[in-house]
Amino acid sequence: MSTSETDKPARLWGGRFTGKSDPLMDLYNASLSYDKIMYSPDLTGTKIYTAGLNKLGLITDDELSKIHEGLEVIRKEWENGTFKEVEGDEDIHTANERRLGEIIGKNIAGKVHTGRSRNDQVATDMRIFVRDSLKDLSLKLKTFIETILKRAENEINVLMPGYTHLQRAQPIRWSHWLSSYATYFTEDYKRLQQIIERVNQSPLGAGALAGHPYGIDREFLAQGLGFQGVIGNSLTAVSDRDFVVETLFWSTLFMNHISRFAEDLIIYSTAEFGFIKLADAYSTGSSLMPQKKNPDSLELLRGKSGRVFGGLSGFLMSLKSIPSTYNKDMQEDKEPLFDALTTVEHSILIATGVISTLSINETKMKDALTMDMLATDLADYLVRKGVPFRETHHISGECVRKAEELNLSGIDKLSFEQYQKIDNRFEKDVMDSFDFETSVERRDAIGGTAKSAVLKQLKNLQSQLV
Ligand code: ARG
Repeated sequence: MSTSETDKPARLWGGRFTGKSDPLMDLYNASLSYDKIMYSPDLTGTKIYTAGLNKLGLITDDELSKIHEGLEVIRKEWENGTFKEVEGDEDIHTANERRLGEIIGKNIAGKVHTGRSRNDQVATDMRIFVRDSLKDLSLKLKTFIETILKRAENEINVLMPGYTHLQRAQPIRWSHWLSSYATYFTEDYKRLQQIIERVNQSPLGAGALAGHPYGIDREFLAQGLGFQGVIGNSLTAVSDRDFVVETLFWSTLFMNHISRFAEDLIIYSTAEFGFIKLADAYSTGSSLMPQKKNPDSLELLRGKSGRVFGGLSGFLMSLKSIPSTYNKDMQEDKEPLFDALTTVEHSILIATGVISTLSINETKMKDALTMDMLATDLADYLVRKGVPFRETHHISGECVRKAEELNLSGIDKLSFEQYQKIDNRFEKDVMDSFDFETSVERRDAIGGTAKSAVLKQLKNLQSQLV
């Protein structure tokens, strides 16, 4: 249908305005360029809302089916990329309603906003969009965690150094390291489910701020849109953006975990460590140095955590001190939110690709294990003979010092006689302490490095991914 002169596109709120606005103001005010991503929740929201109006007798059955048909035409246009944006399309809500008027006539289309405001409309669209995006992220996150768990199970026998202060500390299993990040990500996964529940509450029917003048059935609207409940105060319904803050916080924390995970892998991939090698698909070369293979995927995972945190802090600043209820400041929720959701989604996919394709160098990991890392095991040996740990810690330190003094390669090279001389409670079996496998296997309490303990962790994590 063509647009005639008389129904030239106008602002939907234009009735009381006569003067022209500054063109820069139009641009400054407009959000369509980024909020059109919500075209589908907006159309679905209007479908259910008009069904609610129909129940009240404010829209006839015939009008309702015309409206629903029109909305589906618009959905197709967005899907095919044929939707034409025109001047005055301030945001996705005004654009869709303007187009509906063109398709089914303004007489009917003019009824869809009865009792509704863009304030409850935008809050509704946002909640649907966030809920659906988080559900999708949740599935992708699950796959990522399962990829880590699978790898950990397959490579359970591989030992490597565990670090504190980035100094070699004690031997651990490579799978134990993998499982430690799977533990972080599983907590993220569970936190996400809780957030989805809080997001999934309906503001629709709250009107501009004061509630619905025709007594619309808000429970009916909520059910139709898949919400779990109705927000109980109309003022809060239109102005609550805590769900955006929570999503941004969740994203920030997740990216923090991803960033630390990436940093470990970057270190492990250096020639100095050589524990892992990234697949070509996730590395890039240098434009100048032909020999270089850089871990760009990991550096981006680490780097992008910054912008997500920036989005959180920026939006919290915008939100603070906004008086009740809706104020235009709130439009600033969208760009950081959409950016965070995309960044997190891509980061999960990239991290899944990285971890499922990298190769490990078992020999390099093993070679990095040094005897001094068993000094604690030596102390534990004497504890088992009844010596208090504070004392054994000191004795073991003396053994390390002695080996260094004699220029030996490690504490295992001291003779039994030399051990006896340091402390006569050392017996022949002290020589059995110098085995990395024995060391990790001894730590079989919950959460430890023993094979049985690590396998239990993996199983336990898997069981939480519901
Ligand atoms: N584009 C606006 C936003 O995203 C929609 C709500 C406009 N409401 C209003 N009273 N101007 O926040």
